[in-house]
Amino acid sequence: MALQNTNPTTTLAWQKLQKHFNEMQNASMSVMFNEDNTRTSQFHLLWNDFLVDYSKNIINKETMDLLLELANETQLKDAIAKYFDGDIINQTENRAVLHTALRAKETSIIKVDGENVIPEVFEVKNKIKTFTNEVLIGDRKGYTGKPFTDIVNIGIGGSDLGPVMVVEALEYYKNHLNVHFVSNVDGDHVNEVIKKLNPETTLFVIVSKTFTTQETLTNSETIREWFLKSAKQEDVAKHFVAVSTNIQKVTEFGINPENVFPMWDWVGGRFSLWSAVGLSISLAVGFDNFDNLLAGANEMDEHFKTADFDKNIPVVLALLSIWYNNFFGSESEALIPYTQYLQKLAPYLQQGTMESNGKSIGRDGKPVDYQTGTIIWGEPGTNAQHAFFQLIHQGTKLIPTDFIGFVKPLYGNEDHHSKLMSNFFAQTEALMNGKTKEKVQAEFDKQGLTEEKAKFLLPFKVFSGNKPTNTILIQKLTPKTLGSLVALYEHKIFVQGIVWNIFSYDQWGVELGKQLANSILDEIQSKRVNSHDSSTAFLLNHFLKNK
Ligand code: F6P
Repeated sequence: MALQNTNPTTTLAWQKLQKHFNEMQNASMSVMFNEDNTRTSQFHLLWNDFLVDYSKNIINKETMDLLLELANETQLKDAIAKYFDGDIINQTENRAVLHTALRAKETSIIKVDGENVIPEVFEVKNKIKTFTNEVLIGDRKGYTGKPFTDIVNIGIGGSDLGPVMVVEALEYYKNHLNVHFVSNVDGDHVNEVIKKLNPETTLFVIVSKTFTTQETLTNSETIREWFLKSAKQEDVAKHFVAVSTNIQKVTEFGINPENVFPMWDWVGGRFSLWSAVGLSISLAVGFDNFDNLLAGANEMDEHFKTADFDKNIPVVLALLSIWYNNFFGSESEALIPYTQYLQKLAPYLQQGTMESNGKSIGRDGKPVDYQTGTIIWGEPGTNAQHAFFQLIHQGTKLIPTDFIGFVKPLYGNEDHHSKLMSNFFAQTEALMNGKTKEKVQAEFDKQGLTEEKAKFLLPFKVFSGNKPTNTILIQKLTPKTLGSLVALYEHKIFVQGIVWNIFSYDQWGVELGKQLANSILDEIQSKRVNSHDSSTAFLLNHFLKNK
């Protein structure tokens, strides 16, 4: 069944939130903490290895009650049931949205068009397992009989970002294979990777749901051409495998049908790392670690499906984000993991969040008259502190920030970890409390600054504080906790799309540029510029003249 259709601004909860916002917009978190010593216990959630503290937000109990009312009025419960049951909730592409089925238990029954998909999912998982093990123990060999040493994932968007993010995140768990990623159609990218490879010992995994994506096909052809300089045509079948729904195109490329890993149209590219799209993850860290990643995601799925909304981590984080996006007018959110391993988490979630919820037409087919998708950005701490934290602390914009940290480091270097985590805690405290005039003045007095100098400097050194943060503190970075973390954000995206009454699972917005690029490519290749606006024509002519 289709999703319900409710403009959130017409709900009673929205109107109450609007009124409530007028009372809360100048509320001070520090004051609220001083007045209520139950605040931390009220506003945190403990689940498995996760502690999510959301007490450092500009909220009180009424805010949360009203946000939860909003979730109820926009029929979130009904939508969650449809999401997990395989209903056609991606209505504009007439598809179910079932990445959750990829990590479901083998005993589950999840139907698409009346057919249980779980047996197929497990068939592909077993294929990934067998293939991974054969490569790892050296049973699968290259055309000169040598075992593989290098893997190259060729794909873009969801066929790249998930695998590269996870392979980097789980580097600690990695085995002997070197894993490379080629995504950009920029020829310099592919050449830089090729430079590091030996054709005899490299396995290429072409990942493209459609197998029509220009970047991936161009890179695959360039790599095949390079490969054929030393190998023969029949060796292609040994060195190239593919993950795709388009079996015909894959076989036309020269890939042995036995080496095609299928996926399904009910898995969106940006949510596909749990499918065979994650083959390079399995190769990098071994199938058991890949399976644990899926198990962690499945645990988060169960939590999301069954926990009451006020105890439900994705629901609470999604509603808080709506509070800032739609009432405070925040435009972006930062995501700061305090681990270098998660350096690709923000780019990965940029696609997840912005390709999903960057929409301006409601499910009723009419333009929305409220804000939707947030902008996501971020870098690991503490590097981020030395780059853009100035703006979060003292800029004019309100940027709600998620801090993600781990209780235990992987290599057990206590000195480093204590320093890292002291920054993690200090930042959320500083963002909330800021620094008052009185404190700054007291420091000046201690330093013996002249009155004139102190008067001049004082406004620059004051921090207004009251900047909202969520703290997600996880026991340790493991395949399982990573799986749960990624699934948490996937469900946050889902909740927001439901409340905003948009379709989160299509991506028509990326098509126009692709079509125009194709016709401009013809012009570049024929060196004949057709009619364009004068700016584009001027740029193209300059490019062609100086090329
Ligand atoms: O950029 C649009 C997009 O369709 C993404 O959603 C997708 O992840 C990416 O292109 C790659 O598509 P494919 O896997 O079909 O090559």
